[in-house]
Amino acid sequence: MTTIIRNIGQLATCPPGNPQSDAGLLDTAALVIDGGQLRWAGPERDLPRPVPGAETFDARGRLVVPGLIDCHTHLCFGGWRGDEFEQRLLGASYADIAAAGGGIRRTVAQTRAASTDELTTRARAVLDAMLALGVTTVECKSGYGLDAGQEIRQLEVYATLDHEHAIDLVPTFLGAHALPEEHATDPDAYVDLVCERMLPEIARRELARFCDVFVEHGAFSPAQGRRVLEHAARLGLGLKVHADQLSDGGGAALAAELGAVSAEHLEYANDDGIEALAAAGTVAVSLPLASLYLGERFLPARRMLAAGVAVAIATDFNPGSAPSFHLPLAMLLGCLRQSMTCEEALMGVTRVAAQAISADGQLGSLQPGFQADLAVIDAPSLTHWLYHFQPNACLATMKAGRWVHTREDWTP
Ligand code: NIG
Ligand code: FE
Repeated sequence: MTTIIRNIGQLATCPPGNPQSDAGLLDTAALVIDGGQLRWAGPERDLPRPVPGAETFDARGRLVVPGLIDCHTHLCFGGWRGDEFEQRLLGASYADIAAAGGGIRRTVAQTRAASTDELTTRARAVLDAMLALGVTTVECKSGYGLDAGQEIRQLEVYATLDHEHAIDLVPTFLGAHALPEEHATDPDAYVDLVCERMLPEIARRELARFCDVFVEHGAFSPAQGRRVLEHAARLGLGLKVHADQLSDGGGAALAAELGAVSAEHLEYANDDGIEALAAAGTVAVSLPLASLYLGERFLPARRMLAAGVAVAIATDFNPGSAPSFHLPLAMLLGCLRQSMTCEEALMGVTRVAAQAISADGQLGSLQPGFQADLAVIDAPSLTHWLYHFQPNACLATMKAGRWVHTREDWTP
């Protein structure tokens, strides 16, 4: 079945070969989709002859972008921590709250206590809302179970949702997110458990595509992070690192040295770390909602882009540091607080985000051969979309050639 979308006011093709500053914008454009893939994209005047039986949609002058990719979330968790938000407003720091027994460990207790049905239902509702925002692919981490059974249960929730939901999920094992209460005095024993018990079973059952570690004071040391990641690489998983979020702990350099596909957060990354990321081709994933909520500095995007590091933008959706899954809001913060241009921000949630989940070549661009994932946005141009921020400007979302969401007031 062939689908034609015509009368696109502005089309962002986000081509693979372009610099991040050039989102491949085309005015008055059209697209041809067939078998779930993009077949043709270009100026409307060059549209190939209509195929008999093709379905044609009129975008009525709106912006069309590749389906958005949220390449860093902690989607599955029990409970919320709104009281900690209030404590931070009164001056407590994220680290103080964690040291006093709040933070990640509190969500671990709430996640362990929740039924699998409850966790699945909650995560599904978030995915529905993300799809309505134009998001078509979501990376999602475990890390609120912190024992073999519970970590695997979180990853099983992701497998269930990946199977049933229009959004594609990319699961990441983050067993080394925090030290669980029961191993508080013996961190190395917990790292043993992650390496010897959890990773082999997760790899064998193909429950995760990536392994991530949180390298930070109060979480895991670079040596412990290295051990987990080297083990994961031997088992065939791709690598990610929560690096330099609250202090400069050498996480960026570690990610680069181990050939990680991405280093995430990086608010405190130093110049050597940035050089190393550039040399290794490791993507920097910026999480501006976490900086906003924690009152922390923002990732130095201009320094990174100038050094040749590709910068993705993601929400970090979680109940502590970033309790919002609004990816267009994260893009806006990328512009306003990280001085990224609108084109750099869009590339950061499409083509560069695809690189951060090793899906470049399939997702994140509207070019022939790519999966037909796209969003129709109620704006005449990319700049207007980000400038005139609306609760939700997405009119319709297409996944693999199928309309999977349309706003009530819009018929594609
Ligand atoms: O990416 N930094 C560690 N993990 C999450 C926060 C998790 C939480 O606060 O529950 C993050 O910010
Ligand atoms: Fe995170």
